[in-house]
Amino acid sequence: MSGKATLSVNGQTIELDTVVGSEGEVGIITKPLRGATKAISLDPGFVNTGSCTSDITYIDGENGVLRYRGYAIDELATKSSFLEVCYLLLEGKLPSASEFSDYKEQITRHTLLHEDLKKMFDAFPANAHPMAVCSSVVCALSTYYQNNLDPLNPEHVDLSAKRLVAKLPTIAAFSYKKSRGQALIYPDNELDYAGNLLKMMFAYRTEKYELDEDVAKLVDTLLILHADHEQNCSATTVRVVGSAHANLFASISAGICALWGPRHGGANQSVLEMLQVIADDGADVDKYVALAQDRDSGFRLMGFGHRVYKNYDPRARILGEMVEKVLTKLDINDPLLNIARKLEAHALSDSYFVDRKLYPNVDFYSGIIYRALGIPTNMFTVMFALGRLPGWIAQWKEQLAHGLPIGRPRQIYTGENLRPYVPMSER
Ligand code: SDX
Repeated sequence: MSGKATLSVNGQTIELDTVVGSEGEVGIITKPLRGATKAISLDPGFVNTGSCTSDITYIDGENGVLRYRGYAIDELATKSSFLEVCYLLLEGKLPSASEFSDYKEQITRHTLLHEDLKKMFDAFPANAHPMAVCSSVVCALSTYYQNNLDPLNPEHVDLSAKRLVAKLPTIAAFSYKKSRGQALIYPDNELDYAGNLLKMMFAYRTEKYELDEDVAKLVDTLLILHADHEQNCSATTVRVVGSAHANLFASISAGICALWGPRHGGANQSVLEMLQVIADDGADVDKYVALAQDRDSGFRLMGFGHRVYKNYDPRARILGEMVEKVLTKLDINDPLLNIARKLEAHALSDSYFVDRKLYPNVDFYSGIIYRALGIPTNMFTVMFALGRLPGWIAQWKEQLAHGLPIGRPRQIYTGENLRPYVPMSER
């Protein structure tokens, strides 16, 4: 569906076409704007600017709705598996039993890294952040598949996508093992996706690994909850890098770097660090809720607020319910959870947060669950990247399928006007 918008600027009035999405959202197509009026739209941070139309993920921020390809996140979290959600995001439909069996078989066949690539892990210091290791090794994968990198060749893209889905858990686990000075554990193709990741991270060569199926299911659900989120910062990064026709490995490597930022996926690590600071300071929740309201304090409640959700992030709601079950099952009494609950209760009743519609987001509880599962804090954002990978690939493929132009925004120049060069002797 489409419609019209009228805009007056510079003494001119023009009509612009609009596009109406399948959920009734309206986008004003501003492409003719500059040619017709010499004016451009200006929206730092793209707060009110859409970069594309998309069939992949729908978010209704006002009502806390999230759907992948039309399926509600809470249904997928309880009824699907991460590998099935990968198929759904990448192929646009849920697989039949034979399609899923074939897909799973193909992914299993690509879990190993080239033996020479292992040497790359030796080049990093033990305390290297695993996001730096993962983005480096993912980009390096492109050097091992130089004959299959053409972003406009569907077979190359399909193979690269399967290689990434299969190998990122191996890369993540290898980066963790290296950071611990432990021997690498190779993929076990008998295990499902999350179980294989857990075994590669926590098994030892010297003993049989007993996989806790409940824990594996929890990790699988966490990956589903993170699988896509429309045009977030890292997905936009992947799209823009891909719009230059950079290969998929390079584009995903860039997405990992964007996700690393504490305003984005790095927030799950920052939430745990924040909760620990509050715990170390006598669990004085009121003090930190007040600090978060003082812009000069530089302190923010990590895990709170969202560009799109002006209601409770549905993923945070699911995680908030999961966290109790996880800690009870593992018989853990985590004092940081008590602080998190108090923080949430206080913030949800405080006018500063209520007025700004600042609710807990996906990062608020995820870190407490990862910690309960024995995953170290600096691996939290890697877990986010593992979940987000199929979404990034789906977004990258869609922008190429739509034949979008290279992502190159304009600006409004506010610097010096023309001035002559002054020789140094005269300055
Ligand atoms: C993710 O985009 C996505 O979809 C991301 C994500 C995904 O799945 O990909 O959902 C994952 O990144 C979740 C967000 C994780 N980040 C954090 O938890 C970091 C803390 N949150 C903030 O930095 C902030 O809320 C953002 C970055 C998430 C959103 O920032 P916006 O939309 O640009 O909002 P803003 O910074 O303009 O804030 C609006 C107001 C400001 O106050 P005023 O200028 O009106 O006085 O709200 C305040 C901000 O100071 N504010 C906060 C706050 N977040 C916003 N104040 C205190 N604590 C906070 N956390």
